[in-house]
Amino acid sequence: MTITLLGSHDGVELIRHELKRYGLMGFYPSSVPNAFEGIIVLRGELQVTCARQSTVLSAGSAMSMSPVQEVVCVIAKENTDFLYVTSFSLYSWYKDWVERFHQMASDIAQKDGYTASHCERIRKYSVMIGCELGLSAYELISLSCGALFHDIGKVKIPDEILRKPGRLTPEEFDIMKMHTIYGRDLMNSPEHPFLHVGSTVAEQHHERYDGSGYPYGLKGDEIYLPAAIVAVVDSYDAMTSERPYQRPKSKREAIEEIQSLRGKLYDPRVVDAFLKVVDKF
Ligand SMILES: [Fe+2]
Repeated sequence: MTITLLGSHDGVELIRHELKRYGLMGFYPSSVPNAFEGIIVLRGELQVTCARQSTVLSAGSAMSMSPVQEVVCVIAKENTDFLYVTSFSLYSWYKDWVERFHQMASDIAQKDGYTASHCERIRKYSVMIGCELGLSAYELISLSCGALFHDIGKVKIPDEILRKPGRLTPEEFDIMKMHTIYGRDLMNSPEHPFLHVGSTVAEQHHERYDGSGYPYGLKGDEIYLPAAIVAVVDSYDAMTSERPYQRPKSKREAIEEIQSLRGKLYDPRVVDAFLKVVDKF
């Protein structure tokens, strides 16, 4: 996401946003009395979700919120530019936060031996499945943030375990499993208020539908749906990625494996939605 301040006067700000396909932005109820916020789409298409109701804004369309009363999520269905108008100053801390957010995502990916594009890919595919499943605005924001930072807890795992070529010993694997708990705690820390929304995804993304996952062995509906989505996308990405100890599977082989584990390791609702959107990955 790229944001540019086009103009400001007396607290009113006009900010241009460029969102890539399936880029997402959340709005939370404002603490500023009589706040006004509005969006005018310049190019592309935005899905606007409030609770579980979604509408699509195309180029030339506008919407306003005065003030924002419920969580609202906007998702670019294609590369989209829009103007965001606000009656209160937020650009400076907002820009700072967006930059920090992206820097953290890239630092985590590098620690794990991936590139920043790996985390962004997991985020994007997860949001595509979330849209297909009709998640609420809050769940979509939680999914996007949680998917991007799902492995943040790995910053606390020693490099010799994280980057060990070949299989981990049972003791090493027990340490590796802790990245879920570390991730939840890091995302819940007061230092990162904008990451709280994704902490349950980091905590539960290795839980499996049949109860065979970790850290708790949750089953079926006990698993937070956005975390169940990241579980499928993360597995698909691992299957199709080059790793030191495995040949990457073809897209077709990976899809067949995910399909064969429907209702076993993976939530059937998620696998069905995955199968509908995987051709667009
Ligand atoms: Fe993980």
